[in-house]
Amino acid sequence: MSDMAVCTTRPELARARPDLSGRVGVVMTMGALHEGHASLVRAARADADHVVATIFVNPLQFGPAEDFNRYPRTLETDLSLLRELGVAAVFVPPVGEVYPDGEPGVRVAPGALATILEGAHRPGHFDGVLTVVLKLLNLTRADLAYFGEKDYQQLTLIRSMVDDLNVPVTIVGVPTIREPDGLALSSRNRYLSTTDRTAALALSRALNAGVAAPADQVLDTARAVLDAEPRLAVDYLALTDPRLGPAPSQGPARLLVAAKVGGTRLIDNVGLTLEA
Ligand code: PAJ
Repeated sequence: MSDMAVCTTRPELARARPDLSGRVGVVMTMGALHEGHASLVRAARADADHVVATIFVNPLQFGPAEDFNRYPRTLETDLSLLRELGVAAVFVPPVGEVYPDGEPGVRVAPGALATILEGAHRPGHFDGVLTVVLKLLNLTRADLAYFGEKDYQQLTLIRSMVDDLNVPVTIVGVPTIREPDGLALSSRNRYLSTTDRTAALALSRALNAGVAAPADQVLDTARAVLDAEPRLAVDYLALTDPRLGPAPSQGPARLLVAAKVGGTRLIDNVGLTLEA
């Protein structure tokens, strides 16, 4: 297995960035890695000549009442997993390396799409995400960048940023990896107690029930499954078109859900086709 460069500063990353002779794919993460992250790395390995990963818990995308300080940090196991997966270089900067002057004055304004769904519940979240993603694209100079459909609104906004600002990178979306019982993998799942975890299964169950329902009953069917689980506090359940605009009466669509269980906020979504 070849050596993986572990870089904590921008100059180290610049030196380690594999030669321009091949295509570089980047996988950006906040660490606490699981099989969902691994599948992004495998997709990147399949397309690109070199894979660069980043591990950075980005304070700019956490609200004041959110879990920045207690976000799980498992650096040593993360590095072994990335090494096993054949990553060429990993960028693990301290906060001061990414934001040397504190919070940046110039940020990416994500626009109207960032005010709905997750954005309505997490003000400022997506400007923090897009700002760090653009910085990490610039620092890694990646040709390809891989993001999970698990965070579907994030993926959609990253695609819009790249189109609207002509960022020279190809964005690749990767399907959601789930536990055998349907729970979407998430770094936050480790906060769940056994009873929380059972309640959390209602999210994927609701989405599946919605997908199986007739087009005009998708939302009601999914809602009934969520309502049957008293331990869930639902933030939203929404049916949209694939770009998160208003739901069509037929054709491709997306069903998205967010809910709290215990103190943990979980999101999930699925693609579906509405039949006339
Ligand atoms: P994080 O939550 O660590 O996720 C990193 C990447 O892994 C994202 O693209 C996310 O969609 C993907 N991912 C997470 N769970 C997944 C699953 N079960 N199946 C497939 N992919 C999954 O998302 C972030 O970090 C941050 O917002 C980041 C983009 C790194 C910017 O800070």
